[in-house]
Amino acid sequence: MNDAATIATRAETFDVEAIRVEFPILATEMQGRPLVYLDSAASTQKPRAVIDALARVYEADYANIHRGIYDLSQRASAMHDEARRKVERFINARDWREIVFTRNATEAINLVAQCFTAAKLGPGDEILVSEMEHHANIVPWQMIAEAKGAKVVAAPVTDAGELDLEAFERLIKPETRMIATVWVSNVLGTINPVTEIVGLAKAHGIPVLIDAAQAVQHLPVDVQTLDADFIVFSGHKLYGPSGVGVLWGKAAHLDAMPPYQGGGDMIERVSFSGTTWNEIPFKFEAGTPDIAGIIALGAAIDFVERIGIEAIARHEAELLGYGTRAIQQVPGLRLIGTAPEKASVLTFTLEGAHPQDIGMMLDLDGIAIRTGHHCAMPLHERFGLSASARASFGVYNTTGDIDALTKSLHRVAGMFQ
Ligand code: ALA
Repeated sequence: MNDAATIATRAETFDVEAIRVEFPILATEMQGRPLVYLDSAASTQKPRAVIDALARVYEADYANIHRGIYDLSQRASAMHDEARRKVERFINARDWREIVFTRNATEAINLVAQCFTAAKLGPGDEILVSEMEHHANIVPWQMIAEAKGAKVVAAPVTDAGELDLEAFERLIKPETRMIATVWVSNVLGTINPVTEIVGLAKAHGIPVLIDAAQAVQHLPVDVQTLDADFIVFSGHKLYGPSGVGVLWGKAAHLDAMPPYQGGGDMIERVSFSGTTWNEIPFKFEAGTPDIAGIIALGAAIDFVERIGIEAIARHEAELLGYGTRAIQQVPGLRLIGTAPEKASVLTFTLEGAHPQDIGMMLDLDGIAIRTGHHCAMPLHERFGLSASARASFGVYNTTGDIDALTKSLHRVAGMFQ
């Protein structure tokens, strides 16, 4: 079967076993057992196409970009620039100049906080987030708020793990200078009503940033339709390499913002009497970037598009339904996050067992889950917890993985209760 035919077949039938073969690490063992990888919300594994793209760049196409007149550098530059075009198409940006490469989503949020929001803040001003934010969407705002005498305000989350949209709206005040919310919660799995959130922000004339770090790998993202001011995500949760992230921002904002860091490539002209800045997005990309990583992110996007984000979402929704039903049969298990609109994340506690103990016991069975506060301490506090256990699914997971998880959890419940 040629490649196109394979792709067509996959799109129609979603052949998870064929997809698994593309992920070499899934054939490895952990603690002498076949690996059951259930920590994709922390970082996804990488398909062969991404691993090969990285290796190929270093083997055949590598040189610094935008600096060499020689063929190899021109080739590397073209591949790097094409990766930016792939991101542009993937999120339906209007213009490739709106795509800034960063190290990760965290750096992208820090960039917006420092270069866009900080200058708008004065004493008594507020930045509105939600209780379900990852630390990456809390701490950068706290840092600039502290420097300016402003404060970060968090909208509440319901017991089911949904954003309380009425309370959110009530918290929008004349002092609110920025709204920043997560699209999909890394702990609750909740898919937030971002269209409504952006609509509220616009109705009040407040700029809004959407943290899509847990969204781009699960659902279609169209930045023009959503019409937020900024959207951020990381490559490593999108089957791409770690060390590469994306900031999408409206060109008018990016044009008006000062640079984030100084160095090579971000300048137009440097002299000791004064320096001028390069155009966007280069103004925000000081120094040699992760050239191979960016090209490999392009390969990750090709991979996701080959399968289709809708097909991935359908597969993950089936896993979520199956997994939710299965693990709720485990005695003493409490599910944290039961919103009707959820991505493929199952966070839970188990009566009598500390999450670390659960993680260690599952590890012995070859099952990788995340335990701890998942970089969301305020959210854990909201649910009266200091830690929880989390299983999260990606394109390569199967109901067999969930059966293995459930079996292990029954064993752990039997030991601790
Ligand atoms: N933000 C990542 C997680 O949720 C690391 O695990």
